[in-house]
Amino acid sequence: MAAPNRDAVLQALRGVIDPDLNQDIVTLGFVTKCEVKGGRVDVVINLTTPACPVKDKLHAQAEALIRALPGVTDVHVEMTAEVRGSSGPPRDVAKEIRHIVAISSGKGGVGKSTVSVNLACALARTGAKVGLLDCDVHGPDVPMMMGLEGQPEQIQVDGATKLVPKERHGVRSMSIGYLLPAAEPIIWRGPMVHSFVRQMLSDVAWGPLDYLLVDMPPGTGDAQLSLAQQVPLTGAVLVTTPQAVAAYDVTKAISMFRKVEVPILGIVENMSGYVIEGLVGGGVAGATVRLMMGGTESVVTLDAEGRFRTVVDLFGRGGGKKLAQFHGFPFLGEVPIDPDVRTGGDLGAPIVVTAPERASAVALLEIAGRVAQRIAVRSFASLPILD
Ligand SMILES: Nc1ncnc2c1ncn2[C@@H]1O[C@H](COP(=O)(O)OP(=O)(O)OP(=O)(O)O)[C@@H](O)[C@H]1O
Ligand SMILES: [Mg+2]
Repeated sequence: MAAPNRDAVLQALRGVIDPDLNQDIVTLGFVTKCEVKGGRVDVVINLTTPACPVKDKLHAQAEALIRALPGVTDVHVEMTAEVRGSSGPPRDVAKEIRHIVAISSGKGGVGKSTVSVNLACALARTGAKVGLLDCDVHGPDVPMMMGLEGQPEQIQVDGATKLVPKERHGVRSMSIGYLLPAAEPIIWRGPMVHSFVRQMLSDVAWGPLDYLLVDMPPGTGDAQLSLAQQVPLTGAVLVTTPQAVAAYDVTKAISMFRKVEVPILGIVENMSGYVIEGLVGGGVAGATVRLMMGGTESVVTLDAEGRFRTVVDLFGRGGGKKLAQFHGFPFLGEVPIDPDVRTGGDLGAPIVVTAPERASAVALLEIAGRVAQRIAVRSFASLPILD
């Protein structure tokens, strides 16, 4: 049988559509190599983020379409990724950082730091270069949650002294908590917060980063405003909890980001339901178990091994999704309450690193993929098309 030709391979690859950009991968310029030698086809597909949630699907589709061509005996599809920078005006600080993303909320204690740390680790797991900046000068939690402490090293860069971010779980982080003794109360006035944020961007040797996540302090005060005004943020991720009051507070944060023209990448609902799993000894598949929680009863069905799994909505659920729908933002996902998320935070062992198979970690890993996807969609610019 005659060997396939390169045009036929490229034509077949036009059948692979990027679901976010709604175009085929050849038109989008994602096919950066297409070589045909006899019956062997070598293709490289270069995506816009290593955290692409549909990477495996696109890979499988491309492989199947090429394999179906007459004369093809051997197919190698390599997936690579290159995070494209923001299309906005160039910045005067932190030029090597492609995207700066604020993790924010209106209300305190909803899980901003937990989400920031886990998203940073989740993105790093995909191979992205990730930084995490703790902007909570009053209550910096990043050192504890990353399991890091002590003064950062200093280096000279072009005659200037810079702080070296501390690295763990593949994430480079910086926090005021590394610089000051623990348990020392910090009283900050507005202008000090302002200069702190700028210094953390200009005086830290971040190096090249695909994503810098910024863990914001609670409220909609000085640090948020100064960060949003001084640095072109690619966007903000808003964290809320299911309670209506938190959803109300988050609307204040939405107004603030709108005022400073920072796009909202989406909303995360944290502490959304509590997952209960169990095993009934000798339980028969299909048998039901009645669970009583407070005044609420729920009925679960056993699987073939006598196991059950259900989610109890302790504080209600769905507020984040409604809020996202109301404002027309993407809903990024729900993270259930999980005691191991909290202990992981206290011990510097983020759940996405220590137990990536747990429901809470799966949710956080998926949310990280969606955040990367939203960023890619926003900053996408066509590469030269291979023909
Ligand atoms: N999904 C979760 N399941 C269980 N515990 C959680 C979850 N998310 C956060 N927590 C816990 O809730 C507490 C508050 O979370 P966190 O410190 O991340 O919130 P925050 O919004 O950053 O707070 P602050 O506004 O004070 O900065 C922490 O003890 C954390 O471990
Ligand atoms: Mg916090």
